[in-house]
Amino acid sequence: MKWLVLLGLVAFSECIVKIPLKRVQIMRKTRSEKNMLNSFLEEHAYRLYKTSSPGSNITTHPLRNIKNMLYVGNITIGTPPQKFQVLFDTGSSNLWVPSMLCTSLFCSSHVLFRHLQSSTYQPTNKTFIINYLSGTMKGVIARDTVRIGDLVSTDQHFGLSMEISRNKEVPFDGVLGLGYPKFSFSGVIPIFDNLKNQGAISEPVFAFYLSKGNPEGSVVMFGGVDTSYYHGTLNWVPLIKAGRWCVHMDRISMNRQVVACNAGCEAIVDTGTSLILGPRRMVDNILRHIGAKPRGSEHYVSCSAVNTLPSIDFTIKGINYTVPAQFYAIKGSDGNCYITFKHIPANTPRETWILGDVFLRLYFSVFDRGNDRIGLARAV
Ligand SMILES: *[C@@H]1O[C@H](CO)[C@@H](O)[C@H](O)[C@H]1NC(C)=O
Ligand SMILES: *[C@@H]1O[C@H](CO)[C@@H](O)[C@H](O)[C@H]1NC(C)=O
Ligand SMILES: *[C@@H]1O[C@H](CO)[C@@H](O)[C@H](O)[C@H]1NC(C)=O
Ligand SMILES: *[C@@H]1O[C@H](CO)[C@@H](O)[C@H](O)[C@H]1NC(C)=O
Repeated sequence: MKWLVLLGLVAFSECIVKIPLKRVQIMRKTRSEKNMLNSFLEEHAYRLYKTSSPGSNITTHPLRNIKNMLYVGNITIGTPPQKFQVLFDTGSSNLWVPSMLCTSLFCSSHVLFRHLQSSTYQPTNKTFIINYLSGTMKGVIARDTVRIGDLVSTDQHFGLSMEISRNKEVPFDGVLGLGYPKFSFSGVIPIFDNLKNQGAISEPVFAFYLSKGNPEGSVVMFGGVDTSYYHGTLNWVPLIKAGRWCVHMDRISMNRQVVACNAGCEAIVDTGTSLILGPRRMVDNILRHIGAKPRGSEHYVSCSAVNTLPSIDFTIKGINYTVPAQFYAIKGSDGNCYITFKHIPANTPRETWILGDVFLRLYFSVFDRGNDRIGLARAV
């Protein structure tokens, strides 16, 4: 039996499409920029609890904490292809890029889609609005050929943004949402669903490897899993609710003592968030255990103390996912080490955590649309 399984895996790995991701960082320069970034963080959390009704043309958008590091990759839209650097985002469900008709500040420093130069471009009469707390993004929905590496989705609906009230320093042009169709604007079919429906991918899965040190080397893969990116076996966790990349977490502990998620909680696995976010009271408890000192909205420790700090265990389906201090405390430009735990400001009925890139650098993640589950394994 075993050789049959192996044979299957070989055939499987040949069909995987891998897209290199680049780690990008945004530097804070001015006070106003800093405030802007903080409001991004809050808005990110906000949207989790105010998602639009399915099929509506108004949606609350995944604004992200981008003050740290994010991973972006290239796609093309149109014929001939126009290249865009996008955030591959499991926390949202739509593809959008800026339109050549956009006059917002954001658009002055990003690649804009030139629809007049694409022979396969088709307009629709649908519009969309994405609400942020501090502004909106408005645009039209269009259709065109979208390519992710060798994967081609023809007549793919996507958003062309005309108005973006958003920091122009954002290190990507647009976002490619890998969430479920339930949260897509105007009932648009997300690109992954189209690829799946068209039989373009052999298996309805995608996976992320986010490199720890090197800014290069990260990948998102479609249609299968390359086992060379992780150690051991994948631990599968079912989604709590179909339609969102969210799983049950048993507890969070330090030094064998439970510090958060005492009665179990929800964990959203989100490649578009750079940090780990949790409810204020729980995060504060962790910061206390670490002995972190506040500075503005940040908490830091002296970098010389980092190797004496305990690691943090996230227990999911009985398995400990350990995040050592060197990974949750990141050196800032002032020489201090900043703690990568942040508040979800909104009051939530249930305890919800967002496991972003800080967690995903340590754990290779597989998103299985076929079985509504997430696979995690220790990344190489
Ligand atoms: C995307 O393409 C540009 C060149 O067009 C290149 O500089 C950049 O490194 C590419 N990004 C990735 C993640 O490969
Ligand atoms: C939008 O397009 C659809 C189909 O193409 C059409 O049925 C509808 O009447 C159009 N609506 C408007 C307001 O133009
Ligand atoms: C949203 O859709 C409704 C009904 O289809 C339409 O009346 C409204 O103008 C749309 N709003 C925007 C901002 O496109
Ligand atoms: C997981 O972590 C908890 C708390 O730190 C510890 O008590 C338990 O023994 C660990 N389990 C395994 C299997 O390592």
